[in-house]
Amino acid sequence: MDEAGAGRRRQNEVYRAGVYGRSPRVPVGIRRLQERAKRALDARAYAYVAGGAGDEATQRANRAAFDRWAVVPRVLRDASVRDTSVELFGRRLPAPLLLGPVGALELVHPEADLAVARAAAATGVPMVFSNQGSRSMEECAAAMDGSPRWFQLYWSTSDELVESLVHRAEQAGCDALVVTLDTTMLGWRPRDLDLGHLPFALGKGIAQYTSDPVFRRLVEERAAAAVETFLGIYSRPSISWDDLAWLRSRTELPILLKGVLHPDDARRALDEGMDGVVVSTHGGRQVDRSIAALDALPDVVAAIGDRAPVLLDSGIRSGADVFTAVALGARAVLLGRPFAWGLALAGEAGVRQVVEDVVGEFDLTLGLTGHTAVDQLGPEILRRVG
Ligand code: FNR
Ligand code: LAC
Repeated sequence: MDEAGAGRRRQNEVYRAGVYGRSPRVPVGIRRLQERAKRALDARAYAYVAGGAGDEATQRANRAAFDRWAVVPRVLRDASVRDTSVELFGRRLPAPLLLGPVGALELVHPEADLAVARAAAATGVPMVFSNQGSRSMEECAAAMDGSPRWFQLYWSTSDELVESLVHRAEQAGCDALVVTLDTTMLGWRPRDLDLGHLPFALGKGIAQYTSDPVFRRLVEERAAAAVETFLGIYSRPSISWDDLAWLRSRTELPILLKGVLHPDDARRALDEGMDGVVVSTHGGRQVDRSIAALDALPDVVAAIGDRAPVLLDSGIRSGADVFTAVALGARAVLLGRPFAWGLALAGEAGVRQVVEDVVGEFDLTLGLTGHTAVDQLGPEILRRVG
């Protein structure tokens, strides 16, 4: 372990470069980061990434939920040596952080998922390959050596395709499967609707399909275009609890359900043989006026936290946010839009910088509040202030 820690390392790098008049390529604070990305992207790409369901109240709620919690820092506790790592499904991760599944990244940068995979490998932070990736999971895996990666699945109407995707994820070295359940249908998204823009209809974000042998055969059998075939089979809104046993029997990989917000659903997930849940609102892209992910977290942790890992996704913008979510019981969190903004501005280097900034701030927050390891964080160090 490096005595300086990730936070001081990153500060030193930036301030040293500053002596020679250089400043970070990608803004460090989330507001400027997003503003700059907005300027760099075309209107459709920006709307797709930034946008959410309806009036975007859920997106605002996801952020506001963090403002209702405050840490009470402690002093004089020797925080000179800190360990930000956590263990998840038998693997040690550098921080309680993963790069969440974000589809259609070719809208943002030509290297898309491949740049993200390289940045993940460079930082050791796991990448969750999106089912709607713009590059195949095999291409990304090949750029990652042994560093951790997971696969996110959308449950297709074709069981055979689901099996094929799961098999490929195993072969590509994925450590876990994340089944996203809040997007059996796309949410009502005014920004995209106003622009008449759906990336998939343009053949963007369907690389996991076009690289799949079962999908290719289906395209041939139907004598249809890949895009049409995709639109016909990508999701099955009829999936229910009864279907989970089928998936469970098809893979030994840990399975997490993403989009769980109710404690009863979390309990049921474990009863059905699932290995964890991701508390998520899909970044407010699916249901407007949903409970915020962070507000849903404590009840889910109370329901299953002693049995399985609970991850938090939606609204993470900084290392301080990671800290709050972990203190409220999240074993780790998923980062979403912020790394897409970094990708927009500087490709692989941009994603890498965003990750290093988040981990750096998390490390400093840990130390500056009087802690030296992640397992010291719990709800007792927070006060509700709103
Ligand atoms: C997503 N998200 C997502 N989730 C998923 O399971 N599969 C996917 O393919 C995608 N695609 C996707 C595209 C874009 C552009 C965004 C912004 C998000 C949701 C993602 O995994 C995560 O839940 C949210 O990004 C979390 O919200 P914040 O923190 O990014 O606001
Ligand atoms: C979205 C899908 C791809 O949120 O998950 O756009």
